[in-house]
Amino acid sequence: MSNSIVIVGAGVIGLTSALTLKKENKDLDITVIASHLPGDISINYTSPFAGANWQSFAGDDVEVQKIDEIGYHEFIRLADIPTSGVWKKKNVNCVTQKGWDDAQRDPKAFANWFDKLANSRVLEKNELVPGTVYGTVFDGVVISVPIYLSYLVQQCLEIGIVLQRIAPLKNIEDARALHHSGKKASLLINCAGLGVSRLNGLNDKKRTYAVKGQVVLVSNKIDHVICVEGAKHPNEMLYAFPRKEGGTIIGGCFLVDQWSSKEDKTITQRILGRAVRHIPQLIDPATGNPDHLDVVKVNVGLRPFREDGPRIERDSKRPWLIHAYGAGGGGYQGSYGFAEKVARLVRESKPEAKL
Ligand SMILES: Cc1cc2nc3c(=O)[nH]c(=O)nc-3n(C[C@H](O)[C@H](O)[C@H](O)COP(=O)(O)OP(=O)(O)OC[C@H]3O[C@@H](n4cnc5c(N)ncnc54)[C@H](O)[C@@H]3O)c2cc1C
Ligand SMILES: *[C@@H]1O[C@H](CO)[C@@H](O)[C@H](O)[C@H]1NC(C)=O
Repeated sequence: MSNSIVIVGAGVIGLTSALTLKKENKDLDITVIASHLPGDISINYTSPFAGANWQSFAGDDVEVQKIDEIGYHEFIRLADIPTSGVWKKKNVNCVTQKGWDDAQRDPKAFANWFDKLANSRVLEKNELVPGTVYGTVFDGVVISVPIYLSYLVQQCLEIGIVLQRIAPLKNIEDARALHHSGKKASLLINCAGLGVSRLNGLNDKKRTYAVKGQVVLVSNKIDHVICVEGAKHPNEMLYAFPRKEGGTIIGGCFLVDQWSSKEDKTITQRILGRAVRHIPQLIDPATGNPDHLDVVKVNVGLRPFREDGPRIERDSKRPWLIHAYGAGGGGYQGSYGFAEKVARLVRESKPEAKL
């Protein structure tokens, strides 16, 4: 096999895949092409809008559990590297009376496959956040995504991966001709995120769709991650991630099949209301915060979901094409697991040298 690879997409999945491949095999000659790169802000580019923390949604799905477990270890390790923008933080998860009743007051409903991995325990009554009745805490991480994405870019450039901005592709196959060497790439890796919904040539029977999220960046500070389930509005919850460089990301909502980039101001108000109700220290001057929420900006992002979960596989018709998209709400926590699967598929491509 010649060693030229084109990766479509410079989101967390494309960049992590590029980095993992090149670290494993220095002889690979990799071009990452994308219409959006770190630093850009667009509704067609999800990665800059994430919170982000590690809190696996794998449930009973053993495949996704494996993907997320790889990410857990990797992000814990990255927390020791100051330039990565990752830090270790306690993750507190609580539930309101409504959420507790909805779950038939069954603690098992709040148990996770990763409880042992992440050192989870049930909170004492006096540790619960205001307005909640049950909760757990585990050892997690927060990823400051603007810093982390530029860290990934720096890592890629340092080891000789070429990044190139392009106009949006119409057909995934067109990317194969865009290797920086000018030669046709021997492998093409599709990490186009939600962009696949507008790409031809995918050979995918499953649909990829947006789940809209809205997050508010405030300058106010908190000590650790706090999530509260059981809001009155369906598809809404509270999560707050302290960022290492200061400020807090507050969400959230989960609006299935909503593709609009427009802020819903009533949702923003509800998000901020929940934040003040459950996390009063945010506006407590005694903790060094202003007496109000100091909003820096409101971001709307579209999570790239796919029916039946992510697609990480070789194309059934074109052996030179590998797909890695559909990360949904877990693209950061899953990124190293995605990349490792991609790397395995690339290793397995070797026998097809004649392509
Ligand atoms: C509000 C919110 C909160 C989130 N919180 C978390 C969290 O706490 N933890 C977590 O793990 N995840 C979180 N996520 C999910 C995470 O952000 C995504 O899963 C992840 O960013 C997806 O990355 P990606 O690389 O697949 O896609 P993207 O970041 O969208 O990248 C796609 C890339 O492909 C390129 N592209 C697409 N189509 C084309 C085309 N036709 N031609 C050329 N280039 C193209 C784009 O330009 C871009 O470079 C959150 C998401 C949102 C919106
Ligand atoms: C997002 O992509 C679609 C399809 O390519 C395009 O019509 C739209 O203008 C893009 N939106 C932005 C804000 O770039």
